[in-house]
Amino acid sequence: MRTMHDKKFTIAGRMLWSWLAVILVTTCMIPKAMSQVKLDSEGHQWWQHAVFYEIYPRSFADSNNDGIGDLNGITAKLDYLKNLGVDAIWITPCYPSPQVDFGYDVSDYENIDPMYGTLADFERLASEAKKRNIRIIMDFVMNHTSDQHVWFKESRSSRDNKKRDWYIWRDGKGSGEPPNNWLSTFGGPAWKFDPTTSQWYYHFFYPEQPDLNWRNPDVEKAMFDVTRWWYQRGVAGFRLDAVDTLFEDPNLHDNPELPGKNQYGDPNMQNVYNTKLPELHGVLQRLRKVADEYDAVLIGETWTKDIDELKQYYGEHSNELQMPMDFLFTRVDKLSATEFRRQIAGVETAGWPVFVLSNHDIPRAFVRYGDGVHNDQIAKLMAALYLTLRGTPIMYYGEEIGMTNNDPKRKQDVKDPIGKLGWPKEKGRDGERTPMQWNTGENAGFSIAKPWLPVAASYRTHNVATELKEPDSILNFYKRVLALRHDDPALRDGEYIGLNDDDPNVLSYLRRYKDAAVIVALNMSATPQKVNFDLSGQGISASKATTLLTTMTGNPSSVSLRSISLEPFAVYIGKVE
Ligand code: NOJ
Repeated sequence: MRTMHDKKFTIAGRMLWSWLAVILVTTCMIPKAMSQVKLDSEGHQWWQHAVFYEIYPRSFADSNNDGIGDLNGITAKLDYLKNLGVDAIWITPCYPSPQVDFGYDVSDYENIDPMYGTLADFERLASEAKKRNIRIIMDFVMNHTSDQHVWFKESRSSRDNKKRDWYIWRDGKGSGEPPNNWLSTFGGPAWKFDPTTSQWYYHFFYPEQPDLNWRNPDVEKAMFDVTRWWYQRGVAGFRLDAVDTLFEDPNLHDNPELPGKNQYGDPNMQNVYNTKLPELHGVLQRLRKVADEYDAVLIGETWTKDIDELKQYYGEHSNELQMPMDFLFTRVDKLSATEFRRQIAGVETAGWPVFVLSNHDIPRAFVRYGDGVHNDQIAKLMAALYLTLRGTPIMYYGEEIGMTNNDPKRKQDVKDPIGKLGWPKEKGRDGERTPMQWNTGENAGFSIAKPWLPVAASYRTHNVATELKEPDSILNFYKRVLALRHDDPALRDGEYIGLNDDDPNVLSYLRRYKDAAVIVALNMSATPQKVNFDLSGQGISASKATTLLTTMTGNPSSVSLRSISLEPFAVYIGKVE
């Protein structure tokens, strides 16, 4: 017989079970922050096979003829990008901005600047891009906002405003002295005195770009929500601006000074207390978790001094940036097989390599590597290099047609503020940001109105329309390499194996995948070279390669691996059975 006591337990037990059931059902119903990362049969994610293309929207295509490019201009060129072989476009900031730093001073993270269009234009761009299987990457300016952002306006309004601690405010040292000796990377002190509250705020870049205080959890939450807002609008990832500078030493130790002065006349300095602080990795790990909820990619603007530093940005457990950009590659400042070989070998050990030749802050590769005589051949050579390596390449608009830098000749023509401040040592970045050269028409087909920056004179020969018609143009070469890269399993998935490591002139490597192998030989010298490959160490007995793509005269359909003759700056890419 059951007692009252048993009965109580039975009732309590039932209640407990029903509560447990409720808890179970409701937790299953709550959408969890789950990773949505998809892998293909090789274990690769979408961005590992994608070719990225950076668009500087002011300069790409101007649909409303006001002299400044816009989103509808980009939409109109999507077919061009698709045919070129582009899988993802990174658009540099197109958010509302006073444009002090041409968009890198954001005053509203969740909108489009009217000069570039509207949110509806963005949605059309996103949907047209999706139809063509092109993903969109936005630029995330994390370190700072514009001084016109409502957060900063509130922050500066009073010392006890609830957004005061969203930025970095400090008392000066007294008598008009900033809190410490830190310098802005754009010249002058990194502190600006604000008379409203008689304190100084910190800005690593222009004074109009106050640094956010990433030690404040509310800042982190607000900024992470910005990324969610864009993911929900179809964005496939972010290029993270200036990640090195997110944190500063809270005790504001002075940075050590070095001998000499920089291009702005400021003392040279080691930024040990205001760049690359370890705390930034925690932010990247948490931001990555959000990205994984949307199968999104994070690309880092990572200025590293060596491979060990670059490694840190992938995260100890590959849990930070999937694509930290290898700018050490852009620092190889001459065509040197030895130097490029060393750099590639280094980044191969770091993680998934990300190759960049130039961007809106770095002079164009066409001038950096060109010798003034063989520039077109060298442009093809460089294309063959970064588009056949293991890793993900990020092209810069116009690289595919051999656009050159068009630097201002006079101080009064400079638009980039650092060029005004640092003239003549620092001419600014206008030269690498000039309008895309579409055809031989007025303003190179970029706009009917006078463009915001002058078109480079090279547009007469180096433009899309002309190059599409010339079989041997740089553009058609890019198209062929990109098609190969997408179609050939060894170029897509193969490992990188350096060959002939002692050759100072020819950079050669194998891309090997299962039974397939592709050999790449790049003559980085101005003299003819002969190369000889013995692949027996790789278990490959073939004595010939079948040509996939070459710039060699006569376009041989195959070559003997024992003796390949390469003309100056020649490219050879062949299949090895
Ligand atoms: C890096 C960007 O690429 C550059 O153009 C900008 O001026 C600075 N970050 C500041 O946002």
